Amino acid sequence: MLYRYLILLIIFSQFSCNNKKPIRGVVSENAMVVTAREEASKIGIEILKKGGNAFDAMVATELALAVAYPYAGNIGGGGFMVYRKNNGDTGALDYREKAPMGATKDMYLDKNGDVIKGLSTVGGLAVGVPGTVAGMFEVYEKFGSLPIEEIFEPVIKLALKGVIVTKKQEARLKQYYPQINNQNTFWDGEREKEFEKAKLWMKTWKENDTIKYPALANTLKKIMQNGKKEFYEGETAKKLVNFIQKNGGIITMEDLELYKPKWRDPIVFEYDDLKIISMSPPSSGGICLEQIMKMINPFDLESYGHNSVDYIKVLVEAERRAYADRSFYLGDPDFNEIPYKEITSQKYLSDRMKGFSFSTPTLSKDLNPGSINISESNETTHYSILDQFGNSVSATTTLNGAYGSKLYSDELGFFLNNEMDDFSSKPGVPNMFGLIGAKANSIEPGKRMLSSMTPTIIEKNNELYMVLGTPGGSTIITSVLQNILNVHEFGMTMQEAVNAARFHHQWLPDVVLFETTGFNKSVVDKLEKDGYKTYFDSSKISSKVEGILVLNDGKIEGGADKRGDDKAIGF
Ligand code: DON
Repeated sequence: MLYRYLILLIIFSQFSCNNKKPIRGVVSENAMVVTAREEASKIGIEILKKGGNAFDAMVATELALAVAYPYAGNIGGGGFMVYRKNNGDTGALDYREKAPMGATKDMYLDKNGDVIKGLSTVGGLAVGVPGTVAGMFEVYEKFGSLPIEEIFEPVIKLALKGVIVTKKQEARLKQYYPQINNQNTFWDGEREKEFEKAKLWMKTWKENDTIKYPALANTLKKIMQNGKKEFYEGETAKKLVNFIQKNGGIITMEDLELYKPKWRDPIVFEYDDLKIISMSPPSSGGICLEQIMKMINPFDLESYGHNSVDYIKVLVEAERRAYADRSFYLGDPDFNEIPYKEITSQKYLSDRMKGFSFSTPTLSKDLNPGSINISESNETTHYSILDQFGNSVSATTTLNGAYGSKLYSDELGFFLNNEMDDFSSKPGVPNMFGLIGAKANSIEPGKRMLSSMTPTIIEKNNELYMVLGTPGGSTIITSVLQNILNVHEFGMTMQEAVNAARFHHQWLPDVVLFETTGFNKSVVDKLEKDGYKTYFDSSKISSKVEGILVLNDGKIEGGADKRGDDKAIGF
């Protein structure tokens, strides 16, 4: 009797556990756009409703983010896109910035060979040749279906009408006003000649204010009318070069004319029954993700439990090893031979994990020496699109740091990137993400700087399954990883996966970084007891994941990250 009672109790408790109502994001039947701002998601979805495809929506969404989310959305930066068409064809576009032709290996070093602080992160010299406008035209010319005016006009309208400041935006602006204002001073040699600040950002914007962007609207209108030539050869190009050079930069008209985005083969690999399609170099995202997932695949992660001690240990040790490889082997493939096959072979990766033990951490200094700090907060933005025809786009775009180089052209209406900091200014010296690099990522004229951006699309049984990506600098790769595992190993919905607390390790510094909420104290105590250094700072894991999941019944779920003002909209 007692035995029967116990069995009933077990069945009941299992039933009540499994019965926990899943938290779903936005569920819809046909299409979904997930971005960092409602205004951009709306513009993207309207393009789809008009009959446009995911590529038309991509162009409109990317430009809308430049208006609605100037923190990271841009026309003065660059990005990466992975796509999957409804016939299963996949591909990737690299519209990453490039070093100008006048760039040199030591351009950020003083005469003693030390890195001059700030030179690669703020002001004109930090700016890489922007790729976004060329990238958008490349996508449009290859796959676009609507007239270009139908794509640009809603964005221009938004810029003229203005965008309402959110609470989070008010806080971000407050943090960056001093730097933005400092950088927008024009210099003539040693002496300050004009004191001309970025007027748009002189006002202290508050929540619910409306910021209008007439200068950006004007620039976008000219680009719509004259095509990408306007940005790379025309009037806008001339003004841009003049502006950058006035602010100490070295980008020339020739640099703009030379800029070309590149179609690349994405990184494709398998994990259980999933086929993962992610970004290839010059992003490290796809290769690092492949390395980590192949290192963790032999472990029964599901049985350890989500964010448990053993789960965290396995991921941390795989991450440590992948990021150590990143710093040595990865850079622009047009300038380096990347030993892709070798560093992603199962044999190599299994050997690399041989030193792993649940009882003692591998010390990063034994993998390779070095000691560094993670510094300032940064921004990038990701959007995921699935259209009503079954085409999907996963794109991550950035100015690098928050508001990029902080240089804002009042005349042209946009911020310029500080992507040059993604190069390794000096071997072994960390960049703003604490990432170390070597020769593969040293500065060379016309070279693309190594990235961590990981726009990813996943198939299951040859069908589209997930579209995801995130900003977050060095934490991009590990955040994408955890979101995939949250769904695949732990059965979470897209929204639950996005909501779940994240952690990160990047080889150096040798610490496990945690978001401040969502981790069990006993788990952290045990990790520390076992020799792991832990560090809590949500702002350092600045990932904001935008994911789309295809559900069993064919409906689609959009999961937008509530850490920001992010929004999923579907129909
Ligand atoms: O390409 C990269 O890896 C960096 N420039 C990305 C910057 C970023 O994600 C900042 N966002 N939080």
